[in-house]
Amino acid sequence: MTEKIILQVQKHLPNIDLDIISQGAEALVFQTKTHPYCSNPYLKNNQKFIIKFRPSKPYRHPKIDFQITKSRTIGEAKFIYKLNKLGLPSPSLISCDFNNGIIWMENLGINLPNGNVSSFKNWLWYLEKNESIEDCTSAEVEEVCFKVGQLIGKLHLNEMIHGDLTTSNIILTDDSNKWDPALIDFGLSTFSGLAEDKAVDLYVLERAITSTHSVFAEKYNSWLLEGYKSAHELKEFKKIGKKKYDETIKRLEDVRLRGRKRSMLG
Ligand SMILES: Nc1ncnc2c1ncn2[C@@H]1O[C@H](COP(=O)(O)OP(=O)(O)O)[C@@H](O)[C@H]1O
Ligand SMILES: [Mg+2]
Repeated sequence: MTEKIILQVQKHLPNIDLDIISQGAEALVFQTKTHPYCSNPYLKNNQKFIIKFRPSKPYRHPKIDFQITKSRTIGEAKFIYKLNKLGLPSPSLISCDFNNGIIWMENLGINLPNGNVSSFKNWLWYLEKNESIEDCTSAEVEEVCFKVGQLIGKLHLNEMIHGDLTTSNIILTDDSNKWDPALIDFGLSTFSGLAEDKAVDLYVLERAITSTHSVFAEKYNSWLLEGYKSAHELKEFKKIGKKKYDETIKRLEDVRLRGRKRSMLG
C-alpha cells in the first residue's frame, strides 16, 4: 500500500530524493535534500526539507477526493503562511502544490540522542526513560512547558486554533543549546476567536499530556497554563489579554467537566 502511495508522490515529484519519516492517517511525510527552486550551492551543509503529501483516497469519489485534498492542503499552507507572517514559530512555507496535495516546508526537528525526532513528546519520553525524577521536573523542563504554553497563548490571541494539539505536533528546535517549541500539522486548524474553541484546544493538549506522560502530567500541565497566562500579559495584548484569558479558562473548566461526565458514562 505504502509503495503505491510512494509511486503516486514520485509521479508528481520526479527525480526528487524522498526519505519517508512518518505515515499518518491522512498524510505521508518525507525528508528531502532538494529545495524546489534553490540549487545546492546556496543551501547550508546537509540541510534537509520536509515534504508533506496527502495521497488520493481510493474509497472516495474522485471529484470529492480532489476537493478535500485541495482544501486541506490550501488550509494548512494558509495557516503556516499566517504563522510565518506573525513570526510565530512554525516551519517556513517553501512551496505548495495544492492540486496534488503537496506542501514543501522547512525541516525543524533535530535528532535526540536515541535517534528520534525532537518532538515535545519524544523529548519528554526520552527524559522519562533516561533521566532521574529531578531531571524530568527540572527548571529546563519547566521552561520548555512554559514556552509551549506561551506559544499557544499567542496563537489564540491571534484568533488561531490549532485543532490537533498533541505533543507530537509540537517540535522542539535547538536554538544555541536551548529548546524552543514550534508548531506543526495544521490539517485541522481554523481561525476563531471563540473561547470555546480555544478551551477545547487546551483541553486536547492537557489530555494528551495526561495520557502519554502521566507521571509528571500535573506539573507539566500547570507550567503550560502559566505560560499560556503569560502570553495574555504581554504588552501587545494587554488591553484584551486579561478578559480573553478569564473567558478561556472559565470555558476550559466547563470543557473538563463535560469530558469527565462523558468518560463516566463510558
Ligand atoms: N516541518 C517539520 N519539521 C520536522 N519534522 C516534521 C515537520 N513536519 C512533520 N514532521 C514530522 O512528521 C510527523 C508527521 O507530520 P504531521 O504534519 O504531524 O502529519 P500527520 O497529520 O500525519 O500527523 C511529525 O510528528 C514530525 O515528526
Ligand atoms: Mg501530526
